[in-house]
Amino acid sequence: MKSPIEKIIELRKKLLYHEYLYYVQDSPEIPDIEYDQMIIELKRLEKKYPTLSNPTSSTQLIGGKRSKIFGKIKHNMPMLSLENIFNKTDLFIFDQKVKKKLENEEIQYCCELKIDGLAVNLIYYNGLLVKAATRGDGFIGEDITSNVRTIKSIPHSLQGNNIPMFVEIRGEAFIYQKDFEKLNEEYRTNFGKAFANPRNAAAGSIRQLDPNVTANRSLSFFCYGLGVVKEGNLSSSHIKNLQQLRKWGLPISDYTKIVHDINDAIIFYEEIKKNRYNLGFDIDGIVIKVDSEKMKNHLGYITKVPRWAVAFKFPAQEKSTCIKEVKFQVGRTGVITPVAILQPIKLGGVNIKSATLHNAKEIERLQLHIDDVVVIRRAGDVIPQVMNVITSKRSKNSRKIIFPQNCPVCNSHIERIKGEIISRCTGGLACNAQKNNTIKHFVSSKAMNIRGVGTKIIHKLIKKGYVKTIADLFLIDKRNLIKIDGLAFRAAQNIINAINKSKNTTLQRFIFALGIREVGEINAIELANHFVNIENFMLADFNSLIKIKNIGYKTAKHILNFIKEKNNKKIIYQLINEVGICLSEIKSNDDKKQNNYFYGKIVVISGSFLNLKQSIIKSRLESIGVIIKNHISKETDFLISNKSNTNKYIKAQKLGIKIINENAIIKLLKNKF
Ligand code: IVH
Repeated sequence: MKSPIEKIIELRKKLLYHEYLYYVQDSPEIPDIEYDQMIIELKRLEKKYPTLSNPTSSTQLIGGKRSKIFGKIKHNMPMLSLENIFNKTDLFIFDQKVKKKLENEEIQYCCELKIDGLAVNLIYYNGLLVKAATRGDGFIGEDITSNVRTIKSIPHSLQGNNIPMFVEIRGEAFIYQKDFEKLNEEYRTNFGKAFANPRNAAAGSIRQLDPNVTANRSLSFFCYGLGVVKEGNLSSSHIKNLQQLRKWGLPISDYTKIVHDINDAIIFYEEIKKNRYNLGFDIDGIVIKVDSEKMKNHLGYITKVPRWAVAFKFPAQEKSTCIKEVKFQVGRTGVITPVAILQPIKLGGVNIKSATLHNAKEIERLQLHIDDVVVIRRAGDVIPQVMNVITSKRSKNSRKIIFPQNCPVCNSHIERIKGEIISRCTGGLACNAQKNNTIKHFVSSKAMNIRGVGTKIIHKLIKKGYVKTIADLFLIDKRNLIKIDGLAFRAAQNIINAINKSKNTTLQRFIFALGIREVGEINAIELANHFVNIENFMLADFNSLIKIKNIGYKTAKHILNFIKEKNNKKIIYQLINEVGICLSEIKSNDDKKQNNYFYGKIVVISGSFLNLKQSIIKSRLESIGVIIKNHISKETDFLISNKSNTNKYIKAQKLGIKIINENAIIKLLKNKF
């Protein structure tokens, strides 16, 4: 059993270590809540044994250390911290203390969001941004002026009236969740690293030696108060001062509210807590401040925190737990996603049993083992994430995670192409996890063009077990169709007719219909022209593939992985030999294909025509290797249109796309309609 002094020393040592990771390295190992709990425990012990208290203890510090690389800036007014509370009882105690000190004067509180970023002090001199600093140790911060100048929402000069000669403006720099996810995605891909949370990403981004890096990090900012003001005439109400800052062009959160009773502050807390995940950025609670500047002065400070404000924190978004197992899920497109099965924990009121591990590279980055203790984070509706491993808690029983070689659903080979992070099942045609997508793509108009078989029908056919693979589509019994969808006899017959009709198709459509990764319509045409028939295509090798126009290393690998997979082979031969799919072969000396003006071009057809039906132009062009698209984009080669007042026409004109009318198209196709 440890003595109180031993416990205190141990806690102080641990806290110093975690403060270093958090403030200096921007890379914490434990969740904030564990740090807060250690502080609470240390405070309790120091209160019980006052002789053991020490001014250098973490309980007495504001937090934050300066790193050695930036210049120093001494704050004109210290940048202090806030007292954290976690329950209503402590809030009532705060209110009572305020009231007592103000001798029951009528009090207004200003409720604000407690943004989870990092504090920044801005100095404006004659309305111009001259300096910006981090909080540092509360008294001396780091000079981050050049970096802050790259934050778009911070004005370089203040606008409007009543601008003081000198004013310090304080606020929080942070990163929106969507920007954080984008940044981490890039970071994982390029550096195999990731920031633990948006706060760390914001801190790491603002303390960059190169301001160009900061500029690319999409930092945001909200002001929450003032420091020293010289030669200025500001209000004696905090909220009015915030409104003044907004008029000068500074960003202020819309979620700021004056309340006259502490119970209304609780209502504000509950509302924000309910909506916190819709804000788009992280907050860790609300801040309740006395609104009157006069009262604030009167209340003053205790050690390092004001008596006039308190941070009412939310239950944690991060907690640590143990990884029991890792499962591998197969998505609708065949992507294999490792999922960590956790020792269940409650996070922000929700039970968490699993967390995504994204991909194999993320497992490598985290150096994750089964049985590890990890930090789990939940932000918004986003799936819980494993942020980091607490390596100091690794047990002897921990085991390496082995990424499977074969798909857990269909046993086909899993591919992870060099340079790609994603692993995929190659059994596109055979994999049950992918069948919905596979069938949808197979029947689509640009593939086998089986009319009448829409998403809903596909879903029902799969659910009833009538269709497991694309080959089963051709075996559907009309009576079953009527049963599953309540389709009229005629509609069911139309579907059966469409299925039968699709059996006669082109090689290019069939190759496209297989849904091979990176094989779109254009590549399918090139492949069909090159291999001429399906037998040749199924025997393709790497060297022949990369000689084909537009087929690079990755696409060739995807094609090879697909055609070599025995499950896919089986279904393709079943379609050809048993179902009787008949593919019109491409004649290798087909001069139409090479000399044709439109061959391989992307064409959009818009509106109606005088002599020709749109569908006829479409099928005619398709038969000579044209790719028809519905929307104009930079890739479009031609627009065929008779009218000049349509949106498509205007867009095509803007993009400098060639526009052809009906007469011209007839001539170009040499009246072959
Ligand atoms: S007022 C005397 N208001 O929380 C301290 N702080 O733990 C005045 N913070 O350093 C701070 N949102 O970085 C205040 N609306 C808000 C805040 C806020 C976030 C941060 C700030 C401060 C820390 C205190």
